[in-house]
Amino acid sequence: MRLIRLIANLGYGSQRDVKAMLKAGRVTLADGTVLEDGAKAAHEDIRVDGEPLDPPAGLVLMLNKPEDYTCSTSDPGRIVYELLPERFMHRNPIVAPVGRLDRDSSGLLLLTDDGPLAHRITSPKHHVPKTYDVRLARTLSGEEGAVFASGTLMLRSENTPLAPAQLVVTGPDTARITITEGRYHQVKRMFAAVGNHVEHLHRAAIGGLSLGDLPQGQWRPLTQDEIAQVLGS
Ligand code: URA
Repeated sequence: MRLIRLIANLGYGSQRDVKAMLKAGRVTLADGTVLEDGAKAAHEDIRVDGEPLDPPAGLVLMLNKPEDYTCSTSDPGRIVYELLPERFMHRNPIVAPVGRLDRDSSGLLLLTDDGPLAHRITSPKHHVPKTYDVRLARTLSGEEGAVFASGTLMLRSENTPLAPAQLVVTGPDTARITITEGRYHQVKRMFAAVGNHVEHLHRAAIGGLSLGDLPQGQWRPLTQDEIAQVLGS
């Protein structure tokens, strides 16, 4: 790909902006050799203002999303892109959230520019489990686990029952739930269906990948091994 397009697609600016950056000598090799329009160089050898280029297309990252951030590029409130390099929102293709995590929910959010991979993770056909820790408004009755595991629970205004979900009770009003679908506000609606209310929801894992010790508000790229863990492959 032409240098200008490569850099522009990474969100550094329009093709015009990047042309001006090249002219100004801001795009170089590691040894300082100035690159000109039309020059050929490997991604990892290119520097902008002396800094390595952002990761190439095919980026998959995890973010430990705090509450009060929306998975959107535009919202009157805070958005998850504020926690990432600003360029990521301007990349082509954009680095987009893989499924959504509600504004008032926290935890593991994956973002990628790889559309087919995002589809594999979110499509109910692939049964990638998502695990959430919930804190509830009321004490658990003890019957929720059987209801969620039944495969017959029907949410309001839906016409297909939910796939079986697994519940592990972790305290009088706390539990860990694992689902394989991603219906709208699914976990909150499941607890509403059994007469409770989710006060706080935290996604702990997607497939075999958990947040580990990634601090809240921080992100990092995933390794190929970690992507395989997400997919359970
Ligand atoms: N279920 C919900 O209700 N909210 C989320 O953010 C994720 C799953």
